[in-house]
Amino acid sequence: MSDTVLHVGGAAPYDVVVGHGLAGRLPEVLGEATQRVAVVCPDGLDDVLAPVVAALDAAYDVLVLPLPDGEDAKTADVAVRCWEELGRAGFTRSDAVVTVGGGATTDVGGFVAATWLRGVRVVHVPTTLLGMVDAAVGGKTGINTGAGKNLVGAFHEPAGVLCDLALLETLPRAELVAGLGEVVKCGFIADPRILELVEETDPDALVAGSPVLRELVERAIRVKIDVVVADLKETGGAAGHPGREALNYGHTMAHAIERAESYGVRHGEAVAMGCVYVAELARRTGHLSDAEADRHRSAFARVGLPTSYAGASFEELHAAMRVDKKSRGSQLRFVVLDGIGRPTVLAGPDEADLRAAYDVLRGAAS
Ligand code: GLY
Repeated sequence: MSDTVLHVGGAAPYDVVVGHGLAGRLPEVLGEATQRVAVVCPDGLDDVLAPVVAALDAAYDVLVLPLPDGEDAKTADVAVRCWEELGRAGFTRSDAVVTVGGGATTDVGGFVAATWLRGVRVVHVPTTLLGMVDAAVGGKTGINTGAGKNLVGAFHEPAGVLCDLALLETLPRAELVAGLGEVVKCGFIADPRILELVEETDPDALVAGSPVLRELVERAIRVKIDVVVADLKETGGAAGHPGREALNYGHTMAHAIERAESYGVRHGEAVAMGCVYVAELARRTGHLSDAEADRHRSAFARVGLPTSYAGASFEELHAAMRVDKKSRGSQLRFVVLDGIGRPTVLAGPDEADLRAAYDVLRGAAS
């Protein structure tokens, strides 16, 4: 099957390519003006790194920058180390960074590229489903600090994104399923065909290499592209649409759960629980019908994601939601749906509704 090229318009246009075995495309994305390429990749991903380095070696001076795994890579120390290596290797404005890894690698590698000489080109090669449908597209980069997660960063759009579906073959099942959390979310905020595909397909058939998984990935990336092209810097959308904030559907509660669980829950799992929670809130506040709210629980459950949460107390989660980036002053704000595919903002809901939705999420009420 041929590769799919999804074009991202705007001031700095680029392509997201979806296909199998894409490393060979790197030179065509990087071009001839580039001399040096820094490949940022978690230590130990040798099987994935090898074809990338092989594709680059003939045309460029390649510098591999190994990173710690996962969120441990998203620190100021790691960024400093990368800057120092780029300095030692004489990286100029026409040189480039390639990230190979999951969302954390994309975030820190993108941040290093955004800041070195005030911005050099970066190409993302995401190796997880979550990275393909979320982190690699749209130019958000960042690191974590003592002040919080992702509070330091920059918008820096990539020069290209290569979503190589062959890389999903070795992804643990739980990671693939977690990535589907963001895919299903895209179905609810913008593309109901995603929900139909999930509902029509045997969940065991959603494996790397399946045409349905590929269609889901491409549809979710299209949703993300459409949203970021309309509102790259998250300043707000047109005609009542919350703009890029819509991508954070379910994330207010998801972030609170992740924090309460000391980040021991996968992001896509927390998103599933967060979407079920906010759908319940939308049902209670007259935004969603019973059937639309119930569809949240069934769609996320169908792909194997959790749809209830009986961990932290309401008080703990409520306090965590207050420090969410979407909050303004003391008022909580949620992206809710006015029907499937129609996101809007619900500001300052009653605490009674917040609490009642929490009881449903816990399975303590219906
Ligand atoms: N992950 C949400 C965004 O890219 O805006």
